[in-house]
Order: sequence, then C-alpha cells, then structure tokens
Amino acid sequence: MKIVIPGGTGQVGSVLNRALSAAGHEVVVLTRRPTEPGQVYWDGATPGPWMEAIDGSDVVINLAGRSVNCRYTPANLRAMMDSRVLSTRVVGEVIGAAARPPRVWLQMSTATVYAHRFDAPHDEATGVIGGTEPDVPGYWSYSVGIARCWEREQEEADTPHTRKVALRAAMVMSPDRGGVFDVLSWMTRLGLGGPVAGGGQYVSWIHDHDFVRAVEFLIDREDLFGPVNLAAPGPLPQRAFMRDLRGAWRMPVGLPATRWMAEVGAFALRSDTELLLKSRRVVPGRLLDAGFGFAYPRWPEAARDLVRRRKA
Ligand SMILES: NC(=O)c1ccc[n+]([C@@H]2O[C@H](COP(=O)([O-])OP(=O)(O)OC[C@H]3O[C@@H](n4cnc5c(N)ncnc54)[C@H](OP(=O)(O)O)[C@@H]3O)[C@@H](O)[C@H]2O)c1
Repeated sequence: MKIVIPGGTGQVGSVLNRALSAAGHEVVVLTRRPTEPGQVYWDGATPGPWMEAIDGSDVVINLAGRSVNCRYTPANLRAMMDSRVLSTRVVGEVIGAAARPPRVWLQMSTATVYAHRFDAPHDEATGVIGGTEPDVPGYWSYSVGIARCWEREQEEADTPHTRKVALRAAMVMSPDRGGVFDVLSWMTRLGLGGPVAGGGQYVSWIHDHDFVRAVEFLIDREDLFGPVNLAAPGPLPQRAFMRDLRGAWRMPVGLPATRWMAEVGAFALRSDTELLLKSRRVVPGRLLDAGFGFAYPRWPEAARDLVRRRKA
C-alpha cells in the first residue's frame, strides 16, 4: 500500500514509518522540513503540491500537531489547537477533492479527550468526555477542547469515499530517544521514579508493537469507523506504573514527589503537570469487541520488553 503520514517525523510517526516500511509498504511523510527521501514538504495548513502524494494513496494517517510536552502558556495552547485543527481541515479538504481518494483516513486524536476519573474506565460507548470535571485546574479543559475540535474537523470533513477513524491514543511507549518512555526511564534511573501527588491517578499506555498492530487492524477492518481507543486493557495507577518501571530497570529507589514538587519539576523541564496528574483511565472497548488481541496487555511485561530493547 501507499501510506501517507502527515506529521510523521515525530515519535509516533517514526514508530509507524519503521514498521510499515519494513512490512513492504511505500510510506510518504509530510513535513515542514523535508530532509530525507520519502519526505514531502507541506505547511500543515494550506493545499500545495503535496496533494499529489495523497491522490492515489491507499491510507492517510495524520499525526500532525504541536507537541503537548510544553508549558501551557496561552501562545502554546493556541499553537497546539491551531496545528491540529488546521492540519486536519486541510487533509480532509485534499482527501475530499482527490480524484483517487484513499480508502481510509486514520486521524490522530488522544485519550486525553476523556474526563479525569478514578472510579471506572472509559470505553468509547460509556466513557465520559472531559472538560466539566470539578476539582481540576480550569485550564485542563483546554486540552479536552483541543481534542474535541480536532475530532470535529475529521467528522465534518466531506470525504464520501474514505472511511474515517479517530485514534484516541494513550501514551505510545517505544524505546526511542526523546519519547515518553525515554523520559520516564531517565527519571527512574535517577531515583526519581516514585509516586507523584500520591500516585492514585491512572496511566493509560500502549506498547509500540500493539500500536502498530492496532493501526494495521484498523486499516484492514472496513466495518470500523469513528473514535477508537488505542490503549492497553490494563491502565494502572501511577504509583503501580512507576513501581513496575523501577522493577524493569532494577532500580530499588523511587523518591515520591508532592504536587508542589511536580510543579517545580515540570517548570524546570518546560512541561506541564497535567501530563502527570490527570487520571487517564481508558480501555480499548471497540478494539476488543472487534477481536483485536494485545501482545502486551499488562504493563509489567511491556515495561520489561521496552527496557530490554532500550538497553539493546
Ligand atoms: N506520543 C504519544 O504517546 C501520543 C499519544 C496520543 C496522541 N499523540 C498525538 O499524536 C501525534 C504525534 O505524536 P508524536 O509524539 O509523534 O508527536 P511529535 O513527536 O511532537 O511529532 C508531531 C509532528 O507534528 C508536526 N508538527 C508540529 N507542529 C506542527 C504544525 N504547527 N503544523 C504542522 N505539523 C506540525 C511535526 O512535524 P514537522 O516538524 O516535521 O513538520 C512533528 O513531527 C501528536 O498530535 C500527539 O498529540 C501522541
């Protein structure tokens, strides 16, 4: 297949590009800074010669969006919103106008669309969309708003010959440098991999092999469309998540951090505490119902595999 990945130069794009290329597919990445063969220039917002890459392709997987690993300043929040909404809009317009449109458009979304919650997991049917939870910082609703606008752009796109799927992805764990697993591993090996603010908040995650397999599954399954959770069936509280990661690294110590210490750490790392403190308890209802089997449903085994590959 010819698979076009707008925004495919980042962590998730690298995981997909490697796996899909190795499987024999032709992968074209749309980027604002092409540097390699297989990369085509686009600006992420307006039509251009890159449209030729989409016309005649089989699959589009749009990942573009400003990184959320930043301080949530008004300017950064605006860039997070605009980069997602505008890129999704133009991808939809170009697919809609293509003479030979792709048969499926997988659009990245996020598990962050669901509410901060501890008591029950969110699947696609019964999950609660966030944004109105009491007892959370008001600005957290902005991330949910970004996710909703992002998904709405795809829903409203007029692409009658192209199946549309929104990927409500949890944190994609891969051993690549600079990814979330790398950052958490780095903290763990410094002895800082303990519970944060009590560690009761849930962490949803997906192993990179399962992420790729789920994407391939969704490409093949003509009957699946709309939002699909891409998360392992075993989300777990942050304190248990970090305990298992320490175990995988054979690190006996993991200093706990208070909410206040997390604020200082996030400031120092130019990041935001929402990424650490929001309880994301998300499960893959539709994938399991459709018969998808996870190779890594539980975190301890996934963490051990990722550490082994990281060391290698
Ligand atoms: N990583 C995860 O665990 C995870 C989980 C759930 C959802 N997601 C979402 O999945 C997508 C990919 O994640 P990632 O971790 O691979 O992100 P990433 O490493 O930050 O890569 C995002 C890509 O988006 C492009 N981009 C950034 N700003 C842009 C803009 N203003 N206009 C157009 N393109 C822009 C960049 O491509 P160029 O600079 O080459 O143009 C970059 O390669 C993101 O939207 C992210 O929010 C990620």
